[in-house]
Amino acid sequence: MSSHPSRRPDPLALDQPWARTAAGANTLDPASSLAAPRVVPTIYERTTAAAIAHGAINLGQGFPDTEGPDWLLELAARAITDPGSGPRNQYAPGMGLPELRAAVSSAQQRRQGVTLDPENQVMVTTGATEGISATILAFARPGSEVLTFEPHYDSYGACVALAGARMVGVPLRGPAFRPDVDALEAAITERTSMILVNTPHNPTGTVFSAEELRRIVELARKHDLRIMCDEVYERLVLSDAALPHRSILTVPGAQDVAVAVGSAGKSFSVTGWKVGWVTGSAELISQVRGVKQFLSFSSGPAFQWAVAQGLDDDRGFFAANTTELEVGRDLLSTGLTELGLAPNAAEAGYFVLGDVSGITSLSAVDFCAILAEEVGVAAIPVSALTIQHRAEPTDELQRLVRFAFCKDHATIAEGLRRMRERLPAALSGHPPSLEPSLAVGRP
Ligand SMILES: Cc1ncc(COP(=O)(O)O)c(C=O)c1O
Repeated sequence: MSSHPSRRPDPLALDQPWARTAAGANTLDPASSLAAPRVVPTIYERTTAAAIAHGAINLGQGFPDTEGPDWLLELAARAITDPGSGPRNQYAPGMGLPELRAAVSSAQQRRQGVTLDPENQVMVTTGATEGISATILAFARPGSEVLTFEPHYDSYGACVALAGARMVGVPLRGPAFRPDVDALEAAITERTSMILVNTPHNPTGTVFSAEELRRIVELARKHDLRIMCDEVYERLVLSDAALPHRSILTVPGAQDVAVAVGSAGKSFSVTGWKVGWVTGSAELISQVRGVKQFLSFSSGPAFQWAVAQGLDDDRGFFAANTTELEVGRDLLSTGLTELGLAPNAAEAGYFVLGDVSGITSLSAVDFCAILAEEVGVAAIPVSALTIQHRAEPTDELQRLVRFAFCKDHATIAEGLRRMRERLPAALSGHPPSLEPSLAVGRP
């Protein structure tokens, strides 16, 4: 077995756009060759499939066990079957329903003091995912470099590679996982076109400070870069977080260079609805729209309508949801600490990171395979969320495992019970590999 990590190909070394996209998201089958590459499903889908196949508790994919608030579900159902105030089953306008654009604009004003004209500064998308794709495809010039903090959400790597650009990562280092803005600045070259920011951050739960965001905007303005700021976890900041969420658009001058992306799926625990939005200056939004209107054009008017009501009056859901998440976070963190997995102090979002190096010298990839197959718990190796073609085996991100706490508390407790009872024996049956595996997960 070669210990050289570069068996993960550089996406730009591949000719076909589909293969580049897959390589950028670490979904090229490691068993396939460069001449005949094959694609595997995303790490989330593979983990969920492994969980089902092994009857494992799924602490891998970041979706809640619950269904979202009943009143919101009823609003969407009613919008489909009793359209009343307007058609809800035909194409929505390309920019999104006026009701939802107005609701996003009011919420930004109330919460962040950011003024957005709902006519041309708010664009509804098919989930945040489409907003991210459209923004990256709009601004990542072919042959340019795109900077992001690692680990990062996998769709960023896919879209950057599809755009023909190169992803350059700046690691977030534990235990605090704060962004190193000096390192970001040092990574800027004359080829850089964009910076991708994610706050609150998946998977570290880091909430970026106003000062960190100010410095990132300053760099973008100085070097004429565009920023895509993914804020899908904006409503999921836990009550003991040191900092509140600040939108990038609160930074003076940000609107010249940055757009922010939001998600109703994350905010209201309805991830299947795929309603998101991109906000920013009228000029940048019209540029992103130039791409977005040929991706989905528009989708889900009934869901958009329900989300608009929910943003106007959440009926206490956001507070109740973060309380629930916090109980899950504490339960999971306490259990992982007892297991010797030294979780980070996650302040937002759905995840905590466990460090396997305290209990094994296996890589997180191998650890996760054993966890799913022999312990009955599915989790995600953080290496899957890094830039694989240049990952170093010693990189601390290779030792981290992402566990989701957005699950029913009984499910979390059962996952911990299985780990307490079965993990020691499972690990003792697997002597550490001589060289850490860099595979992104067994397909
Ligand atoms: C950081 C981040 N951005 C975007 C998304 C996708 O959001 P949506 O489901 O609204 O497309 C996710 C989903 O897990 C995410 O974690």
